[in-house]
Amino acid sequence: MTRATAVAHPNIALVKYWGKTDRELNLPATGSLSLTLDIFPTTTTVEVTDDPFDRVVLDGVELSGEESARVRTVLSLVRELAGSEAHAHVTSTNTVPTAAGLASSAAAFAALAKASSVAYGLSLSDAELSRLARRGSGSACRSVFGGLARWNKGTSDDTSIAEPLEWSGEPLSMVVAVISSARKKIGSRAGMNHTVETSPYFEGWVSSNAVLLERASRAVHDADFTSLGEITEMSALRMHASMLGAEPPVRYLTGTSFAMIDAVQELREQGIETYASADAGPNVKILCRSREAALVAERLRERIGDVKMHVANAGPGAYLLDEGERPS
Ligand code: ADP
Ligand code: DP6
Ligand code: CO
Repeated sequence: MTRATAVAHPNIALVKYWGKTDRELNLPATGSLSLTLDIFPTTTTVEVTDDPFDRVVLDGVELSGEESARVRTVLSLVRELAGSEAHAHVTSTNTVPTAAGLASSAAAFAALAKASSVAYGLSLSDAELSRLARRGSGSACRSVFGGLARWNKGTSDDTSIAEPLEWSGEPLSMVVAVISSARKKIGSRAGMNHTVETSPYFEGWVSSNAVLLERASRAVHDADFTSLGEITEMSALRMHASMLGAEPPVRYLTGTSFAMIDAVQELREQGIETYASADAGPNVKILCRSREAALVAERLRERIGDVKMHVANAGPGAYLLDEGERPS
């Protein structure tokens, strides 16, 4: 096949990834654990061409510099595996705001790994796709899988991959509060590298997050929603603490983000179990039980004006689309 289209969704980490031990391979300083969402799909088509170079078009705009280089990193790995020298034309559409802390890079590189491997005639396992997606963006290795996934940090390119986790508890949802869909000033990659280099809290973040990952994995195994929620909030806040300690500080959370986190705590005090998380951006993601998700969104809407709320359930892993088909 010389052309393939794939769809992937963003995932939100309950236990966060922040900091690398290897920047080229995207090996993380700690493992992480996430929920892939069923909203905001990215659709990516890869067509192998006779052109003498790769072209990448995102939402109608041709990418250049670092942004196209990230895509070419994945294409080059695929070419190596396929024994091909042909270049490709990549066309991608995001439905999630790009670079706003809503995991566009996770959906993007999971979709790219799937579409490019098939376009070049490869038939990779999910583990191999996870490894490939990781090279484009670390968090993308988790979006290869649907539902909950754990990215084992590993010690090498072969071993740093995600795996799906079973959840036997009540269905989980994430209410995504979009406070701003503007592009962040500091990308996740630059923000985490700067944290590694300058934050005296980075070591504490790494050692404590490794413990949280094990506790979260146990909570998933035991279907213990309360523990999973408490760990989710702690991991997010500890990640932000590590970057606030950088020199100069990296700060993505705004006053509205904190107002939202306060509102989540109030809901909890009223008996609706909700837990807040936030990534490299001001937007807040609220973990809750699916049966309460609509109520959570409504209550938070009443509390905080001017914020768009999206209710997400557990979504699918990256999948191939037949020609002419649209994402479900
Ligand atoms: P986010 O919080 O959205 O994941 P990041 O800083 O991690 O933000 O990544 C944003 C970058 O990911 C963009 O600047 C771009 O380089 C890349 N990206 C996002 N979506 C796509 C896409 N569909 N195709 C290719 N690259 C993408
Ligand atoms: C805050 O995966 O976007 O969303 O590996 O450099 O592409 P790169 O960074 P990226 O970082 C995601 C950071 C985070 C937390 C998480 O998703 O675990
Ligand atoms: Co990202």
